[in-house]
Amino acid sequence: MKRPKIIAGNWKMYKTIEETIAFVNQLKGLLQKFPCHILIAPPFTSLAAASTAVKGTPFQIGAQNMSGASEGAYTGEISARMLKDAGATFVIIGHSERRAQFFETDEKINEKIKKALAEGLTPLFCIGESEKEREEGRSVAVLTAQLDKGLKGIPLKQLMSLVIAYEPVWAIGTGKAATPSLAEETHRQIRSHLEKSLSPELSNRIPILYGGSVKPDNIGSLLKEPNIDGALVGGASLDPISFQALIEKGFYS
Ligand code: PGA
Repeated sequence: MKRPKIIAGNWKMYKTIEETIAFVNQLKGLLQKFPCHILIAPPFTSLAAASTAVKGTPFQIGAQNMSGASEGAYTGEISARMLKDAGATFVIIGHSERRAQFFETDEKINEKIKKALAEGLTPLFCIGESEKEREEGRSVAVLTAQLDKGLKGIPLKQLMSLVIAYEPVWAIGTGKAATPSLAEETHRQIRSHLEKSLSPELSNRIPILYGGSVKPDNIGSLLKEPNIDGALVGGASLDPISFQALIEKGFYS
């Protein structure tokens, strides 16, 4: 089975509504070919404007986080229904910045993935080990524990739309991307775990994106690896020219 190719931009806490619309309009003018799914995750406040701006294009808009609850007295939270109402089709869940800075546990992440799937949003589920964990030879144990806890109790047939992003914490925002061979080896380890813990069919079907200092000059060699199905990009996704370069160098180099 051929897995979908995906390039996703995670804008983090950058861009106002006006800046979002300007980005989308410029990117629309720059891109002629669409060799992959193109996903953009602006801040919550820009979701509705971004969704309107991408109408008629293949771009998809999604959020960077959501609540695991349906609705209620949760000051400051945003529900899956609200995201869909604003035009989101996917949601990033379990990003390492949320795990580290906002104390998101595997259990919370599991709740959120369940809720996203129940509401028909595609979860982009992030996992990744720290530098210390890799140095101590614990990467596989850490990643498989994140996978098992994050996906606990979810019926296999609901996982058809899941996307996984492998983002080593030491590579995010540091300029020190994983080498293509290290990323490929880790993606293979993730896939082989999914084969055992879920099913061979799902392990073949679920796209695994690499994230962490992906730039136009390293994306080509990363995407040549057979188990790397795309990229989740922070810094280099903020500028339309750089975003276009990611797509061109990723698929035409
Ligand atoms: P980066 O961020 O590309 O700036 O390293 C990736 C991410 O956090 O998703």
